[in-house]
Amino acid sequence: MLRSAAPHTVIVKDKKFTVSVPASRIRQEVSRIADELNRDYAGRTPLFLAVLNGSFVFAADLLRLVSVPCQVSFVKLGSYEGLESGGEVRQLIGLGESVEGRDVVVVEDIVDTGLTMSRLLESLRAMKPASLSVCTLLLKPDKLLSDIDIRYCALRIPDNFVVGYGLDYDGFGRNYADIYSIIKE
Ligand code: IMP
Repeated sequence: MLRSAAPHTVIVKDKKFTVSVPASRIRQEVSRIADELNRDYAGRTPLFLAVLNGSFVFAADLLRLVSVPCQVSFVKLGSYEGLESGGEVRQLIGLGESVEGRDVVVVEDIVDTGLTMSRLLESLRAMKPASLSVCTLLLKPDKLLSDIDIRYCALRIPDNFVVGYGLDYDGFGRNYADIYSIIKE
């Protein structure tokens, strides 16, 4: 069956988006990252921690190309109103596996300011992994505030809001095969 070409622009809720990274380019870059992981983790047994919800498509595609023996687990960043001055505290939930002594690779959809990733790495470091690295589908270098070592990055993108390939706008748009960037009006 022929798959119809993706529309160039889509409307998600009240916003218009245009294709910025087509599925073919995403496939290429995901495959490149998988090659790097296969090379770097040869002889080891990494534990991949995919951060839900946004990384579910990336993780599914990436991990099918990873050929070293590995384990995959899914975590979520829960939030609650805490007593800290900022109000919101995001905490790691759903981690079933022990991280101690493991080679951990965090799989994320996007690193924007990097604050979420910084917090997550801090929590994981306290669990004493043998090594800890970050693998993200997208990075917005112009927005990055934290000093994070991002070892694996599929695509660097400009500072525009994006949806598709797992990423959402208010819960919608995760199902698109391509990545779409917001059209500012
Ligand atoms: P950070 O803490 O600023 O790095 O933000 C990270 C989180 O914000 C990601 O895990 C996403 O859930 C969300 N996010 C940031 N930029 C975008 C975007 O362009 N589209 C969809 N979600 C985004």
